[in-house]
Amino acid sequence: MKERDPKYNISHKKMPNYSQHEKFVLSKPYDKWYIILKSSKEIGSIYLTKENEIGIFIKKNMQKKGIGFNVLKTLMEKNPRKRYLANINPMNKKSIRFFKNNGFKLIQYTFELEIK
Ligand SMILES: CC(C)(COP(=O)(O)OP(=O)(O)OC[C@H]1O[C@@H](n2cnc3c(N)ncnc32)[C@H](O)[C@@H]1OP(=O)(O)O)[C@@H](O)C(=O)NCCC(=O)NCCS
Repeated sequence: MKERDPKYNISHKKMPNYSQHEKFVLSKPYDKWYIILKSSKEIGSIYLTKENEIGIFIKKNMQKKGIGFNVLKTLMEKNPRKRYLANINPMNKKSIRFFKNNGFKLIQYTFELEIK
């Protein structure tokens, strides 16, 4: 994953430094984090946070085979919730289509003005 590419970086305005990252990890925001294996090879990951947010990543050469669909379905079956959220960068058309096709609806598109 290209972490410095803003297209793939939805939760940070800029990369956190080590202590910010450590603080984040120690806050234990994730409920589950699964590594996706195919023939014992790692091909992606999917997580669910305590705020019911889903993040999913499938390696490029394994995309468009229905793996994302199956993994998302399995995650939700294993971790039943009343609602799930997915924070997607508006430029990430592929993921927007993926979540829409899997029943998710757009609920907000947020702009911010920060006064210093
Ligand atoms: C979004 C993402 C997870 C989708 O994963 P995926 O495994 O490709 O998803 P699927 O295979 O279930 O569906 C993708 C497409 O392939 C199609 N497809 C599914 N099985 C197929 C098959 N056997 N043959 C051809 N096409 C197929 C689906 O219909 C869907 O079509 P669409 O693009 O027209 O909507 C993947 O693109 C990804 O990891 N992106 C980068 C990370 C990211 O941006 N994550 C989201 C932010 S959390």
